[in-house]
Amino acid sequence: MEPGTRLRRALWSAVIFLAVIGVAVALRRIVHLWPILTRGYVPVATTSNPRAAQFVALDEIFARHPILTSVHIVPGLLFMVLGPLQFSATIRARHLRWHRWSGRVFMGCGLIIGSSALVMSFTMKSIGGVNQAAATILFGAFFLYALCRAFWHIRRHEIALHRQWMIRAFSIGLAVATIRPIVGMFFATSPWTGLTPYEFFGTAFWIGFVLHLIAAETWIHATLPRRNAIVENTVVRRG
Ligand code: HEM
Repeated sequence: MEPGTRLRRALWSAVIFLAVIGVAVALRRIVHLWPILTRGYVPVATTSNPRAAQFVALDEIFARHPILTSVHIVPGLLFMVLGPLQFSATIRARHLRWHRWSGRVFMGCGLIIGSSALVMSFTMKSIGGVNQAAATILFGAFFLYALCRAFWHIRRHEIALHRQWMIRAFSIGLAVATIRPIVGMFFATSPWTGLTPYEFFGTAFWIGFVLHLIAAETWIHATLPRRNAIVENTVVRRG
């Protein structure tokens, strides 16, 4: 059975909420990096507060790589703004030209985000160590693969398969926003669990990415046209 209107609304609300988180984290990081990009890096004074020190240490990682981080987060900001618009059926139906052009920008942003994520994973010190790097390498590579598959299918006018791969790519990109509240929960409970950011960051990344992959596959499956359910790779050709 096709998912009902309520479920669609709930999903849209979740997507918009996560996109807003994504925009906020990208903007916060851009604001933090701006003086470093314009005036150069100045080491931050150390703090005796152990909690504040954890956040300072996180900011320091990105402050030491302002250009690479900016190459990742500026397209990340656009990705969060354009993504929900790309999935709007109303925009697709009424403004197809706009959908195509913004789709190209979205795809370009995705390729830069994914490639820079891989470079960051290999060259920058991850706060969650090798566990976090493993998650970002695996899902960064999958994200790039999904985008390329989506592009390949649309060039062949295979709309249904294009849609499926775009859902996978967008869902993985959006996971970055879900990871923030998960990290927040780990931080909030750390006085009781005793876990340090080094220990929980990687786990938070795995949880976020895997949850989004499951959500994407569930949605794709739930919205599969009936004829596709019988012959899975049915190609819906345009016009
Ligand atoms: C598959 C997609 C993505 C992967 C694999 C990925 C991976 C990464 C990696 C490896 C880092 C460095 C983390 C560290 O060294 O501790 C990072 C940082 C960051 N990423 Fe992504 N990223 C992805 C998508 C996005 C998107 C779509 C956004 C849009 C908002 C984004 C925003 C950021 C921000 C703002 C940072 C700086 C950290 C912060 O401010 O908390 N990323 N990402």
